[in-house]
Amino acid sequence: MISEKIENILNEQINKEFYSAYLYLAISAHFDEVGLKGFSDWTRIQAREEVDHGMILFDYIIERQGNVRLGQINMPETNFGSPIEVFKKIYEHEKYVTDSINCVANMTDEECDLATRYFINWYIKEQVEEEANVDDVIKKLELFGDEKCALYHLDKELGRREYKMHSYEG
Ligand code: FEO
Repeated sequence: MISEKIENILNEQINKEFYSAYLYLAISAHFDEVGLKGFSDWTRIQAREEVDHGMILFDYIIERQGNVRLGQINMPETNFGSPIEVFKKIYEHEKYVTDSINCVANMTDEECDLATRYFINWYIKEQVEEEANVDDVIKKLELFGDEKCALYHLDKELGRREYKMHSYEG
């Protein structure tokens, strides 16, 4: 069983993951509107991964005999700029999620909850990967983003991303 503090912080994290999905969907719609189909697909797949992140937490709380409490999901912003501005915004958001996951890890230490500490390690690793993926796109945009031809090819490259269902395997 998990403590009340752990239950609360995990429920807050579910909300942040679903908000992330909302944010990525809003960004996907934006890219679709401006004709960048590959960018749109990439962020749409990321939205699905964020839902997976939320659901893994959801299932874990239940498995540990806790109570899932779903809160209101905030409306994501709808004003987006150029691709590089959008990806810099995404990077800031992912750093915020990383900080939030680190807070969960710290809380598990305070509560001496080794099972949740072990569980949350998957998210710590996942955040390293997410920040690196976003940084990779930013670097490419910084190098070539102003060239329309390069943007066209990057759009094609991002469009090749495939969704793989995320699962926590410990
Ligand atoms: Fe679930 Fe992008 O953090």
